[in-house]
Amino acid sequence: MNSDTRELAAGFDLEKLTPEFYADPYPTYRALREHEPVKRMPNGSWFLTRYDDLVSAYKNTKLFSSDKKKEFYPKYGASPLYEHHTTSLVFNDPPAHTRVRRLITGALSPRAIAAMEPDLIALVERLLDGVGAKGNVDLIEDYAAAIPIEVIGNLLDVPHGERGPLRDWSLAILGALEPVISAEAFARGNKAVGDFLAYLETLVERRRAAPGNPQHDVLTCLIQGENNGERLTAKELLHNCIFLLNAGHETTTNLIGNGLVALSNNPDQKTRLIAQPELIKTAVEEVLRFESSNQLGNRMTTEPVELGGVALAAGTPVTLCIGAANRDPAQFPDPENFDVGRSPNRHLAFASGPHQCAGMALARLEGAIAISRFLARFPRYELNAPPVRGGRVRFRGFASVPCAVTP
Ligand code: HEM
Repeated sequence: MNSDTRELAAGFDLEKLTPEFYADPYPTYRALREHEPVKRMPNGSWFLTRYDDLVSAYKNTKLFSSDKKKEFYPKYGASPLYEHHTTSLVFNDPPAHTRVRRLITGALSPRAIAAMEPDLIALVERLLDGVGAKGNVDLIEDYAAAIPIEVIGNLLDVPHGERGPLRDWSLAILGALEPVISAEAFARGNKAVGDFLAYLETLVERRRAAPGNPQHDVLTCLIQGENNGERLTAKELLHNCIFLLNAGHETTTNLIGNGLVALSNNPDQKTRLIAQPELIKTAVEEVLRFESSNQLGNRMTTEPVELGGVALAAGTPVTLCIGAANRDPAQFPDPENFDVGRSPNRHLAFASGPHQCAGMALARLEGAIAISRFLARFPRYELNAPPVRGGRVRFRGFASVPCAVTP
């Protein structure tokens, strides 16, 4: 057994993943944590799986840079994907990051998020009516994906009739962040950035002409900037709106889908949550830990650094495996167990440090409302065919989850 896990760790290559890995990466993550927690990949990058090592890297932005210009140029060349990914705040360091982040967190204020709750509940109830009327549904298409698209659309006040292409643009742009991409995925990602920019230019123009209420409308807030005159440049504004629209889609869809599947696979926990609905907050945290929607983060060392007794040279790409750190037994007792009441639960699903997810309050709210209301309405829901995985390593979720509901 031990030699098997040693071999599993030794043979791991992020660029050559197997169907077994996509189906269930956790045995591999466990083997890596145990045998090679700081592992060199054949392409020269490093892959980290221990909780404490991830926290160190996330907290130290001086040694572990988020700036992706060096790394993305060979991958994307001078393309729209390169411009987009290197302009969004998540892939920048201070001071550029600090300035943009301040404006974005100001726009995603607790007040703006609280104001969304009534519409969110109404949306979820409307979707649940549709699910009930159909009886046999795809949990992703008919429910999980339909929620964030509307929520993020509302956040930027994108007119309803114009939301159709947002999901496909988002999937194409984020898909290009996979460790290996085909020429077709590259072309699709570039076209999506171009189409998205062209659309947002018209939206920003209209919003400048007729501003919304900056306390609720994040786009108006970002256009107007801070009281001290701090503003985003035109390019920063467009690319960070694309980033916001993308950041909140697939990740939150996966949170809702992964949650409903994990509960179905753990009937004792499902029964417990139905009996004690007040556990929904810890249950959402447990879904985030157990099946993290975003499994990988990336950094680049700026100086020679030692991690877990291993010396990393300056200028080395490092992959931070959130999915593995969130099952590290040094941090989480009985980590392979799905426990809706787990507390404490300091998972890294939203990362940590200065880049920690700026939308986590919104994601938590969406997850709690979507999962608790689904359970309340359809406590006997059953998956009636095997769920189909999304086929990605960075963003872990399902492409479809066939399900039967009866009240
Ligand atoms: C379950 C849902 C979500 C998950 C798991 C998630 C996860 C993450 C993670 C891991 C990061 C850090 C990336 C890094 O530095 O390597 C991040 C950053 C970010 N997320 Fe989320 N996210 C979610 C939902 C959202 C939503 C709904 C929004 C916006 C409405 C959002 C906006 C952002 C922004 C703006 C950043 C960049 C922060 C920065 O670089 O300072 N996210 N998210």
